[in-house]
Amino acid sequence: MTTWVRAWDEATGQERARAVFATTFGAAPDGVWSAPGRVNLIGEHTDYNGGLCLPVALAHRTYAALRRRDDDTARMVSGAEPTAVAERELAGVAPGTVGGWTAYVAGVAWALRARGLTVPGFDVAIDSCVPVGSGLSSSAALSCSVALALDAVGALAQDRAALAADCVRAENEIAGAPTGGMDQAAALRTVPGHALLLDCRDLTVRHVPFDPAAEGLALLVIDTRAEHALVDGQYAARRATCEEAAAALGVDTLRDLTDTPGDAERALATLADGTPEGEVRVRRVRHVLAEIARVQEFVALLEAGRLRDVGPLLDASHASLRDDYEVSCRELDVAVEAARAAGALGARMTGGGFGGSAIALVEADALTTVAAAVDAAFTAAGLRPPAFVV
Ligand code: GLA
Repeated sequence: MTTWVRAWDEATGQERARAVFATTFGAAPDGVWSAPGRVNLIGEHTDYNGGLCLPVALAHRTYAALRRRDDDTARMVSGAEPTAVAERELAGVAPGTVGGWTAYVAGVAWALRARGLTVPGFDVAIDSCVPVGSGLSSSAALSCSVALALDAVGALAQDRAALAADCVRAENEIAGAPTGGMDQAAALRTVPGHALLLDCRDLTVRHVPFDPAAEGLALLVIDTRAEHALVDGQYAARRATCEEAAAALGVDTLRDLTDTPGDAERALATLADGTPEGEVRVRRVRHVLAEIARVQEFVALLEAGRLRDVGPLLDASHASLRDDYEVSCRELDVAVEAARAAGALGARMTGGGFGGSAIALVEADALTTVAAAVDAAFTAAGLRPPAFVV
């Protein structure tokens, strides 16, 4: 029996958030704003290296019902725990002062104010169908839904790129999550029917048509439900290695090594200094540089109407993340291999890794067969059952 995590339709999501708001605060909100979770098609661990990535928005969204207040207080409640109302004075919000999910909410107000914008106090009720802890960016869906709400009630008129940057700051500095920027851009800057080609060097975007159904295909998302400790530490460690390598090579970001042919090879040769640490640096940098090139190839195929041909790029991305970047895990490898064995055109882990989700590009009419095969492979491997999202 496979488990499918269905998205709420827009009306349901709005209604749920409104209901939590009304029950908690005894009034109607000024409005309800929402932002989606995401999966990344390709371009993993490239965002904090100034590289390219290609996320698509999920139908699963986080809804924020919000009403402005006349004072400096923020009251926050979540449909996941409707009896626990958190209350903060916004003036007291600073790095290290807020914990848990409310850091993503109060953090956005803090980041907007840090830019000199006037943000009022507020009451907010959150409800969400984005799976939490699945590498599908539930945190960015949360911070971005709140950013849209505060932008509207505060009449701030900020563009979405600026709001995405505020959400990154909120997550990095208030929630203490060193994320790179892909998730927030995916939540705020995608348009329907398109993947978002995000250039993390200058934060420009291009909307690339992505419509698997039109080609008889479907994108299966496999939430491994694997819980991993040390995630933050490992993510930060990968990021630090890349930044050290860039500094040693005299470039701002690893992306700069992709501008001139031959630079990448020379950089890898320089990093290979015969030490075990040098060997690790070579593998990490090799992943980043090859992954940026794969994004370019993937986009070229999409723009040529050749979605059916991207499978090998997905597979190569997974191998590189598993072997060179070392951010996969047993559950992700089992998911990817089982999907491929059941006929997927290609499959890879998506998101930060160490658990979370994988994606598989499958024939639309084979969706349930592939899901059942992955489910069976998890059982055979003694793993707890995964969940599926389309
Ligand atoms: C997490 C981070 C993103 C990105 C991915 C890896 O999802 O939040 O910024 O770095 O990992 O591509």
